Amino acid sequence: MFSFFKKKERYTDTNLTYSSIAVDMHSHVLPGIDDGAQNPQESIYLIRKMMEAGITKIIATPHIMADYYKNTAESINGALSILKEALVEEQIEIEIEAAAEHYFDETFEDRINNHKLMIIGENYVLFEFSFISPPPNAFPVIQRLIQLGHKPILAHPERYSYLDVDQIRTYRDWGCCLQLNTISLTGYYGKTAQKTAEALIDNQLVDFISSDMHHPKHADAFKYALRLPYVHRLLTDYPLKNILLK
Ligand SMILES: [Fe+2]
Repeated sequence: MFSFFKKKERYTDTNLTYSSIAVDMHSHVLPGIDDGAQNPQESIYLIRKMMEAGITKIIATPHIMADYYKNTAESINGALSILKEALVEEQIEIEIEAAAEHYFDETFEDRINNHKLMIIGENYVLFEFSFISPPPNAFPVIQRLIQLGHKPILAHPERYSYLDVDQIRTYRDWGCCLQLNTISLTGYYGKTAQKTAEALIDNQLVDFISSDMHHPKHADAFKYALRLPYVHRLLTDYPLKNILLK
């Protein structure tokens, strides 16, 4: 186990699973199209780990980024088909859909206006910010999404070190749902992200939780997170919306 896990408060009851949320709605398990799983074998390893942890439906969300991952509906649906064939071959039964994690770059607004978004469930749109600075045009773009009937979800707000809890709350006040990475609570992304994640939970600001699964270390942390009191609270006594996507 990773060294940063050692000193944390944890439950010895390891029976808790993610079955109460059922749906993992942010992951990079589609093969070969972003920085997540690189082939169907890697996808299957991660999916098995998610199923062992109690997930019964996966919504895969590859990056769409103008600079690095120029994914389209075609590339994403193509990777989904390849993965589904591999799942059949391995006799793994899991509900799996594809959407995207849209990067808030200069192409995001065009995608919105040209109806090129990859939608989760009933009109949810998952997007992420740069880790360096917030986009200056966040407010009008979020308003445009809402005007078009979309429900924006800001991915892992606890990971943007330039945002404090009050600033994150502002995005929620503007109409965004907030999606926390469960593994932030283990310290995987550092102390600041962990503390912000805890404060978001304490302030009742979390709408969705997810794995943001890219590789086996994330799978280990996702499992380990089940031993943390904050994750226990999220899974047993918190109004999360994941189940609405079932
Ligand atoms: Fe992600």
